[in-house]
Amino acid sequence: MSSSSSPLTSRRALITGASAGIGAATARALAERGAHVTLTARRAERLEALAAELGGNASIATVDVRDASAVAHLFADQDFDIVVANAGLGLGVAPLHSGDTDDWSTMIDTNVKGVLHTVRAALPALRARRGGDLVLLGSVAGRQVYPGGNVYNATKHAVKAIYDALRLDEVGSGIRFTTVDPGMVESEFSLVRLGDQAAADAVYDGMTPLRPEDVADAIAFAVTRPPHVNIGEIVLWPTDQASTRDVHRTN
Ligand SMILES: NC(=O)c1ccc[n+]([C@@H]2O[C@H](COP(=O)([O-])OP(=O)(O)OC[C@H]3O[C@@H](n4cnc5c(N)ncnc54)[C@H](OP(=O)(O)O)[C@@H]3O)[C@@H](O)[C@H]2O)c1
Repeated sequence: MSSSSSPLTSRRALITGASAGIGAATARALAERGAHVTLTARRAERLEALAAELGGNASIATVDVRDASAVAHLFADQDFDIVVANAGLGLGVAPLHSGDTDDWSTMIDTNVKGVLHTVRAALPALRARRGGDLVLLGSVAGRQVYPGGNVYNATKHAVKAIYDALRLDEVGSGIRFTTVDPGMVESEFSLVRLGDQAAADAVYDGMTPLRPEDVADAIAFAVTRPPHVNIGEIVLWPTDQASTRDVHRTN
């Protein structure tokens, strides 16, 4: 491909949660545009399969984002100028009074502390190069709550607060910050959250959700703007979804 059709040639991207869903689609989208992508998640065999598909443009690292030193190690001897903090999950839809506190800890440790570990580890190199992109996967669940969303909502509101804080702390650094906040996306998210495939399929029954590729496309758009343009907040809804509580279904 020529450089005009490969706008990310010579850029190096790190994507957390690249073994499935939005992260895997983002890896494909950035690699297609010429970036070298480093794929990270816990499931090594998934990362290996995706790296094989992407050929020479990909490398892998098995990392749990809850482990601050493992995340820091990722950045120790590599220089990334696109970092996509995507790893995250919801667990359960119980009201607060009966929620599972282990699930709360896992969501907070992954969605909030995992993002903080990634951001902290990524910033020194981005600051030194006076540019680059730090993309956070928030959610419309970080803008609106819904019944049973409680702790997951809290974690995604925290991601929005981290994004807002970064803009203020790092203005003048040359780094671009983007929060990408989708509505319903059909990925492994609902299977992980609800624990059974039939319940996960029912979430999207009679409506057309976003595909992971739709979100990846928005991320690719943001990181391919000219350096003086920062696409800050991207909110993507399925056309069938009006709010976190209002979904049009044909059945
Ligand atoms: N799907 C939706 O409707 C939706 C809507 C808005 C926002 N989001 C957000 O989008 C992001 C991606 O979700 P998705 O829909 O693509 O879900 P997904 O298909 O379940 O993918 C989640 C990814 O996160 C990784 N992950 C989970 N815990 C991790 C940990 N402790 N350390 C490292 N990686 C971890 C998983 O990999 P391993 O299991 O291999 O570690 C997987 O690659 C999440 O932050 C989610 O909150 C999703």
